Amino acid sequence: MGSLATIAKPWWKDAVVYQVWPASFKDTNQDGVGDIRGVIESLDHIQSIGADTVWMCPIYASPRIDFGYDISDYEAIDPNFGTMADVDDLMQECHNRGMKFIMDLVINHTSDQHKWFQESRSSKTNPKRDWYIWRPAKYDEKGQRLPPNNWRSNFVGSAWTWDETTQEYYLHLFAPEQPDLNWDNLKMRKAVYDSAVRFWLEKGIDGFRIDTMTIYSKNPALPDAPITDPTSEWQSGRKWYGDQPKVFEILKEITAITSQYGEKMTVGEFGALKNLNVALDYVGASNRCVGMGFQFETVCVGYALNHWHIRNFSLQEFKQTFGKWQQFVEETDGWTCAFLENHDIARSVSRFGNDSPRYRATSAKMLAILLATSTGTLFLYQGQEIGMTNVPATWPIEEYLDISSQNYWKSVKTATDDKAVLDGALANIRKVARDHARTPMQWSDKPHGGFTTCGKGPWMRTNDNYVDISVEKQAHDPDSVLSFWKQMLALRKQYSDIFVHGTWRTMDVENPATMTFVKQAEGEKALVVLNFTDQPQPVKIPEDFRGSKPLITNLNQWYPETLSAYEGRVYVA
Ligand code: BGC
Repeated sequence: MGSLATIAKPWWKDAVVYQVWPASFKDTNQDGVGDIRGVIESLDHIQSIGADTVWMCPIYASPRIDFGYDISDYEAIDPNFGTMADVDDLMQECHNRGMKFIMDLVINHTSDQHKWFQESRSSKTNPKRDWYIWRPAKYDEKGQRLPPNNWRSNFVGSAWTWDETTQEYYLHLFAPEQPDLNWDNLKMRKAVYDSAVRFWLEKGIDGFRIDTMTIYSKNPALPDAPITDPTSEWQSGRKWYGDQPKVFEILKEITAITSQYGEKMTVGEFGALKNLNVALDYVGASNRCVGMGFQFETVCVGYALNHWHIRNFSLQEFKQTFGKWQQFVEETDGWTCAFLENHDIARSVSRFGNDSPRYRATSAKMLAILLATSTGTLFLYQGQEIGMTNVPATWPIEEYLDISSQNYWKSVKTATDDKAVLDGALANIRKVARDHARTPMQWSDKPHGGFTTCGKGPWMRTNDNYVDISVEKQAHDPDSVLSFWKQMLALRKQYSDIFVHGTWRTMDVENPATMTFVKQAEGEKALVVLNFTDQPQPVKIPEDFRGSKPLITNLNQWYPETLSAYEGRVYVA
């Protein structure tokens, strides 16, 4: 086992990326919504953790039906977040510090308020009609109007909306306010490349996080999806729009553009993709599609992204997928990345650790060990560095503001008033709603966690535990989750050959309580042992590592043959 075949080591492979979800990061103009100035003010904090790249979630002009993932102008900034001058300052400030700055590229769809869609929907003969996906209705035997096919929107219900003006349906794989672009139209492609890609590269950004990269191209026949959910009228059409041949062509075109501007980071969402060969088609360097992809198999273990059928999962399942996506690029020219949180999924300490007061900090540190020793580019989400948790189970449904949670809840309520079913739906929301990641950042124990001084409070309620969990409280506490992240990221840098570039072998595949893996590079290796339970677990340190003291542990006391609850340890040899 050697280290990964890294023919080239561009900067983005060793990067530690800090993801900012701007609405909830820091409000500096007292309107209750986070802003770009708030990010500029917080760069000291971000850099002090050990992050060297900022990924800014969408700040473009948008009606914010899907919090910025519905863009009405790629070349303008949502005034709620600030101005173009603020973005220039933020980018400049990052660069002054030797940091990089990447932005979201959201081009599967635009907002229905984008001028392109306004034109497209105005008449069947408009030159931009074909920039989106329009189809006539189907009719059943009773003459009832039906959408062109049975595809389901990722936000519940049909993926088609009827447009009265021109008497046709348009496709939207997300909300009706997010019409899908027609990537078969070459004029549209060029317009997107100019407006969403080149415009920002010209400004000097260092790369893109590419939203929903696998679904741009649809099978032109738009066939019905196979029935995978017999309880529903609407089915996942991924078979006909996921990983279609043309999507690779599109990503190659994008990379051909980005590479004219130097070495840029490109990281795309794999979405529901599970097939490693296809994943390699996206991230193999010789294919020149994207640098790396976010896999969701691990973070969505027990459910599927945008589905609300949640079940319990075992640590074996978690380990199996984690290891699979760590190893898949070994002996190839591809690259991988590691993350446990983002704006679309629940807080990792609540999902994979234990967010009770007794174990929250220890388990958050244990997960920090896992991530900081993982192969690939590392992504950290705002608040993860202090162990922010899911919202309390006592919060009523009205506190969940995300379109996906609200649509799901409405759909269940419309279908039934059976209490058990409704309670089950609420339980799902409490486990995995996107809202958990979207509560305001907890800066201090001041009202609203110091996120805002707006008289009306923040746009979304701050998690009640801000009194105990905040940046201010942890910054000077050497035992805090935040201080531990700093140590871990310093070690990641020091041992980057093993941690960032090394190979991965899971050693205890069948063990339901612990996760043990070996990372290896040329001439050096590390052993990582993690206890995912609240009970002590026996641990057997292999011969090669015995005798050496751990490089780091997340507890002050450790015992050679036992791992305490949620303990994590790293040995190097
Ligand atoms: C983004 C989501 C968004 C969706 C539609 C995603 O994968 O991360 O937040 O709702 O794309 O743009």
